[in-house]
Amino acid sequence: MKATAVAHANIALVKYWGKRDEALNLPVAGSISATLLDLSTCTSVIFEEELENDVLMLNGQRASPRAERRVSGFLDLIRERAKIRLPARVVSENSFPAGTGLASSASAFASIALAGIRAASLTLSPAKLSELARRGSGSAARSIFGGFVEMKAGRESDGSDAVAAPLADEGYWPISLIVVLSSTDPKEMGSSEGMIHSARTSPYYGAWIESSARDLEETHQAIIARDLERLGTVAEHSSLKMHALTLSARPAIVYWEGTTVTVIRAVRELRKRGVPVYFSIDAGPQVTLLCESGSTESVKSALEGIPGVQGVLVSALGPGARCLEEESS
Ligand code: DP6
Repeated sequence: MKATAVAHANIALVKYWGKRDEALNLPVAGSISATLLDLSTCTSVIFEEELENDVLMLNGQRASPRAERRVSGFLDLIRERAKIRLPARVVSENSFPAGTGLASSASAFASIALAGIRAASLTLSPAKLSELARRGSGSAARSIFGGFVEMKAGRESDGSDAVAAPLADEGYWPISLIVVLSSTDPKEMGSSEGMIHSARTSPYYGAWIESSARDLEETHQAIIARDLERLGTVAEHSSLKMHALTLSARPAIVYWEGTTVTVIRAVRELRKRGVPVYFSIDAGPQVTLLCESGSTESVKSALEGIPGVQGVLVSALGPGARCLEEESS
């Protein structure tokens, strides 16, 4: 009972930051992301009688007990559905270099979800697979699909309508997504905890949720029109608003490093010089840039020269999660 699946990381253009149900990872508002071709996780799930407990290997090393517990809890959802009790060996490798401070729970849980159900001989529709991946991590629901993807907030308390769906596939628009690495230190607070803390203590949380419908609508329009300026403008606005929430939480969470701000300024400077490039920042110090593929080299070389920038990874839009092999024993 073994299967291997690959899923790609994604960068949210309209951010998910707030849960209506913490146990089920149900978002309060919708989000829209772009799937990243060059950042992926390949995971094999093997259900084995010989094992006593679930084992998680991450990039060739045994994962921390905390990470193993999280994956074990997720595998329980698959075991319940498949009515099996076997422990599993989960072997996960990231395509992006270790120690870069990049870790994607989205590509991890999307690949574990797909490899897990196949190893357990289950078949799920893409929407049901997205719903399952969401239980591992909210953003993983989006990594089931390629290109531009929308996650719905949904209304149901069981989360059956809080699933992602594709908006446009990876061939729709040749844009580049450039991840600028500015720090390899662990971030101040994980996303789950950070969004719960922001929701409880930031005075701006209500305004964040109220303004999300407009951001989603604008992003839809920008994608339909392939309008990079419109897309980039709303993506920057959504990122900065999300960081305004963490900065206004009590106590504040500061995800940025000095280099993060330097990169924001460099992007604005490039725009002044006529290069259409925009930024997005998740819950950490790294900045992801969006530009037309024709501007990739000029953006990359401008960013590489900035003191504090430790690396630049260029990606295109990537595909959804897929299985590589299936074996039954
Ligand atoms: C800033 O999906 O990691 O990347 O659902 O608690 O696992 P959990 O959170 P997670 O949060 C992602 C936050 C974000 C924005 C986004 O991807 O939409």
